[in-house]
Amino acid sequence: MTQKKKLTVLSGAGISAESGIPTFRGADGLWEGHRVEDVATPEAWHRNPTLVQQFYNERRKKALEVFPNDGHKVLADLEAEFDVTIITQNVDNLHERAGSTNVIHLHGELFKARSTYDETLIYDVEGWEIKMGDCCEKGSQLRPHIVWFGEAVPMMFEAEKVVKQSDFLIVVGTSMLVYPAASLAFMTNPGVPIYVVNPQKTEFPPTPDLFFIEDVATKGLKKVADILKKEN
Ligand code: APR
Repeated sequence: MTQKKKLTVLSGAGISAESGIPTFRGADGLWEGHRVEDVATPEAWHRNPTLVQQFYNERRKKALEVFPNDGHKVLADLEAEFDVTIITQNVDNLHERAGSTNVIHLHGELFKARSTYDETLIYDVEGWEIKMGDCCEKGSQLRPHIVWFGEAVPMMFEAEKVVKQSDFLIVVGTSMLVYPAASLAFMTNPGVPIYVVNPQKTEFPPTPDLFFIEDVATKGLKKVADILKKEN
């Protein structure tokens, strides 16, 4: 049996837009009504943890009402022909629900929370509304298992390794404005084709290996899947 080629996908909020989750920097962006620094930084957590919990409780509740779209499904189906790793900046679980089995969450997961006392104590909180005082051991507190602005990105090392071993890269639904996540798109080996799917042009250094598909994820990813299947 020949080994499947390695396909890596870097996804951002845009892939979940057609499922009904607003992007961050769009007109009806998730941060609207809140300044980022009030809900998604360690300082915000120290200043007003109740507000931060409420913000993520609300997002967690809304995430139960949405479903994977054809974009997520196309990527899951590609596992039949490629060794696919999804590196997502999204904290929803729509890639997994579509059937993708190998997902790295760079910025954490909405349906998980962890102890402030021992960060290795991670709990499944799907359907939960976390309150101040909720936790595991005395004096500790459950916090969202989310990488906030200003925090380290623990999964970067693993993600870098995956990107450097890729035969193909898809970059879908990300504004490429948030680092270090965006830097992954520039870590492929020379000659590795990069397919960027986005209805809006995003900043990429010009390279002959870059193919821009100016479309939404549901349609654009089908086009990329067709190209990849022919190249395989
Ligand atoms: N299909 C594909 N792309 C889309 C679609 C769609 N239907 N709709 C919008 N987009 C694109 C937008 O053009 C934009 O480039 O998705 C991108 C969304 O960008 P952001 O809102 O900045 O989201 P993202 O890049 O994932 O943000 C990165 O920033 O706020 C933090 O931690 C948060 O993980 C997030 C990170």
